Amino acid sequence: MILLERLDKRLGGRLILDALELMVPKGRITVVMGGSGHGKSTILKLIMGFITPDAGRIVIDGVDVSTLNELQRLELQKAIGMSFQYSALFDSMSVYENVAFPLREHTKLKEPAIRERVAEMLARVGLPGTEAKMPADLSGGMKKRVGVARAIMLQPKIMLFDEPESGLDPVTTTAIGELIMELRDQFRITCLVISHNLANSMTIADKVCMLYKGRIIAEGTPRSLQENPNPILQQFLHGRSQGPY
Ligand SMILES: Nc1ncnc2c1ncn2[C@@H]1O[C@H](COP(=O)(O)OP(=O)(O)O)[C@@H](O)[C@H]1O
Ligand SMILES: [Mg+2]
Repeated sequence: MILLERLDKRLGGRLILDALELMVPKGRITVVMGGSGHGKSTILKLIMGFITPDAGRIVIDGVDVSTLNELQRLELQKAIGMSFQYSALFDSMSVYENVAFPLREHTKLKEPAIRERVAEMLARVGLPGTEAKMPADLSGGMKKRVGVARAIMLQPKIMLFDEPESGLDPVTTTAIGELIMELRDQFRITCLVISHNLANSMTIADKVCMLYKGRIIAEGTPRSLQENPNPILQQFLHGRSQGPY
């Protein structure tokens, strides 16, 4: 479904992604884990089309995105939902207005239909009846859920999550992980999750990839990664301070 082929990306004069190869299978949850600054968010920005690669190809559903015209690119972006690291809600807008935003931008739906869709999405993410609340009234986990509700509003085929656990306590992290699994199981959404939370990654992932210095150095099922002898991977998995990492 999403294929990154030999992607290079330079930022600030440094090679951040170095001939990166990544395959994200359809209808599954793929987790890319890796330390801070290794290029995780950069991968998502490339897939979203916010930035373009210096070399290599991004293929989504069999289409090389560099061949798309402006209109086709916008269509593609609508099919991709993004959950940002810090929720990125509009603070001056209610939950209702936040979640309704994509519908107002991209559809001609009338207010009653919007109201119905917002209520439905808020229920789906476990926050029924919270339309009138403001972001400042919400906990970190609730904000994240509202962000997910907004992101799935246009029924994306692909959802990208940038460190969905950041700033959340362990219990809320588990709940967000369950929500991601529901998106996979109920809507068949292809999920790409960037994470540094090992326990959560190993629980929700169908496939795990370890990013290290702009390359995937190990990938496979959670179980196969546990058994993979790569010393950098093993150091990361066990959080050891000594080693090649
Ligand atoms: N616009 C930019 N200009 C220069 N350097 C950048 C820019 N964006 C990111 N970087 C650098 O690229 C590296 C990877 O960034 P990022 O993908 O955000 O890492 P991660 O999400 O894995 O923490 C970091 O070292 C970061 O400082
Ligand atoms: Mg990041």
